[in-house]
Amino acid sequence: MSLEQLLAWIPPGSPDEALARQVNVEQLPAHIAIIMDGNGRWAAQRHLPRVEGHRAGIDSVRDVVETSARLGIQVLTLYAFSVENWKRPRTEVNVLMSLLKRYIRLELSTLLKNNIRFRVIGRAEELAPDVQQELEHGIRKTEGNTGMLFNIALNYGGRAEIVDAARRAMASGIDPATLDEAKFSEYLYTAGQPDPDLLIRTSGEMRVSNFLLWQIAYAEIWVTDTLWPDFRRRDLLTAILDYQKRDRRYGGIKPSPVALGAK
Ligand code: FPP
Repeated sequence: MSLEQLLAWIPPGSPDEALARQVNVEQLPAHIAIIMDGNGRWAAQRHLPRVEGHRAGIDSVRDVVETSARLGIQVLTLYAFSVENWKRPRTEVNVLMSLLKRYIRLELSTLLKNNIRFRVIGRAEELAPDVQQELEHGIRKTEGNTGMLFNIALNYGGRAEIVDAARRAMASGIDPATLDEAKFSEYLYTAGQPDPDLLIRTSGEMRVSNFLLWQIAYAEIWVTDTLWPDFRRRDLLTAILDYQKRDRRYGGIKPSPVALGAK
């Protein structure tokens, strides 16, 4: 996938096209992670039940997944359901689960068309059997794809992931003396994947909400007031353009022009 693939999908002359043309494809974030927030507020603003916000949020998911895949993003992770979300009313949890099943069923052809590999991160084994079956079907059907990896974080918690990784490391019989950060990463749900370069959060809250706690150590954070159901391709492109202006230092210092040989 490439900028051309994205431009072929955007109406010529549109503001989105102008944004897409500004993106430097040599400097794309390898991994974008998104905390999709604000569905309830979106619904409340329209005097609708909260679940209507989740329903509307599916259109944003579709737009962001296809935009990212076409642009050539390697990994996209969406936070769909946290380990804490079980505390929500049962009807809301049920709607979220059925939306998820429906999404996979209806979007499988789009995932296949765009060469997208679908994965789940989180304690999927604790989900209802019918949800697990649908997820496994999506995973199996897309496992041969070689394009973007699309992770849905489901029954996910960052601390739970670290605990699970520690348990797996201990169960593997690894010599603790050989355990370092790189080795520990191999026990995380995201083993083998690049860490997120860009973490997006919608609806204005300045929190990381137990999302990818290990992996976002050096991620650039971009927060928008836009509520998730209103988030579209233009917002994603705006976030990427902002990311491309950041000065990433990873705890070091920026090399001075003199050190780089400038006069
Ligand atoms: C946060 O909004 C959103 C969620 C907890 C769920 C997000 C899920 C979807 C968009 C649908 C399924 C996803 C996929 C990937 C198919 P909130 O309810 O916390 O909003 P609020 O803070 O305004 O109340």
